[in-house]
Amino acid sequence: MQSNPGKPRVFSGIQPSGGLHLGNYLGAIRNWVRDQDKYDNIFCIVDLHTITVPQDPAALRENTLSLAAIYLASGIKKEQAMFVQSHIPAHPELAWILECFIPMGWLERMTQFKEKSGRERERSSAGLFAYPALMAADILLYDTRYVPVGEDQRQHIELTRDIAQRINQRFGDVFTLPEPMIQAAGARIMGLDDPEKKMSKSLAGDTPGHAIFLLDPPDVVRKKFARAQTDAEPAVRFPAGAGVRNLLEIYRTITDKAWPAVEQEFTGKPYSVLKSAVSDAVIEALTPIQQRYREIRADDAALMRQLRGTADRLTPIADTTLQRVQHAVGLR
Ligand code: TRP
Repeated sequence: MQSNPGKPRVFSGIQPSGGLHLGNYLGAIRNWVRDQDKYDNIFCIVDLHTITVPQDPAALRENTLSLAAIYLASGIKKEQAMFVQSHIPAHPELAWILECFIPMGWLERMTQFKEKSGRERERSSAGLFAYPALMAADILLYDTRYVPVGEDQRQHIELTRDIAQRINQRFGDVFTLPEPMIQAAGARIMGLDDPEKKMSKSLAGDTPGHAIFLLDPPDVVRKKFARAQTDAEPAVRFPAGAGVRNLLEIYRTITDKAWPAVEQEFTGKPYSVLKSAVSDAVIEALTPIQQRYREIRADDAALMRQLRGTADRLTPIADTTLQRVQHAVGLR
């Protein structure tokens, strides 16, 4: 199934590991929604990656559906190819083959593995170690041109290119080489409690005031902004400190205003004015998303049918690549 045949294939992988926040929305999702017709997109909910660290089964099931619904509610069109990774067995099958050609040393160098395994290295799963091979399989199965990722995932895309090149060199042209599409246009939203740190799901787990979640009700949004860190100045001044700049950045991106207009609007205003303006803007943007989200979640069976249907339509594409690789290495 191709949503925009003839356009460059873009493969996006998103982990169903809990609520999406404003940083995800303004930094990534909103851009995908805006650019969705420029590419032949595949959106993959990577549940097999999520189980590389312990998950509660019921929560994983819920997060998978919730993520799909949030994407659709945010404006990803129904016709786009969105599916669940574990619904297409070619992903782990290709990952296994790749693992047999990836030197351990390459995986040992991955900074994400070092960070995620930390001091628990001996106890962390073999799946966490092999994670980049599965990610490479995701990308390579669909002859992907571009992979939109954050800076933190660049090393994984490089490994994907390295393994693809290694196999191509040894067995002839099997894989298309992908390129990272590092999002420069997207806003970089920082934590409300600590504007030195990028808004993140894991930090939000420790501090409720760290992030605004897309499904937060209006009163929670207001409360979180009311408590957001600013500085000791009595009013907005430029250049502003990190906390105030973050609030202005959220306001600017969500309202699509230009910096000079925003500066003019808030210069000399007390922080309470900025905080209520940014709360209003965020609530205005989230309300229709939350409304659509509720409508979609009212029929989970239909949502699951859509995801399964897309997986069924993508399976022949994935299988074609898998069979090409199997043949190249002598498995068929
Ligand atoms: N590793 C990615 C992340 O944590 C998720 C991911 C899995 C992915 N497979 C992918 C991203 C394929 C892009 C393409 O963000």
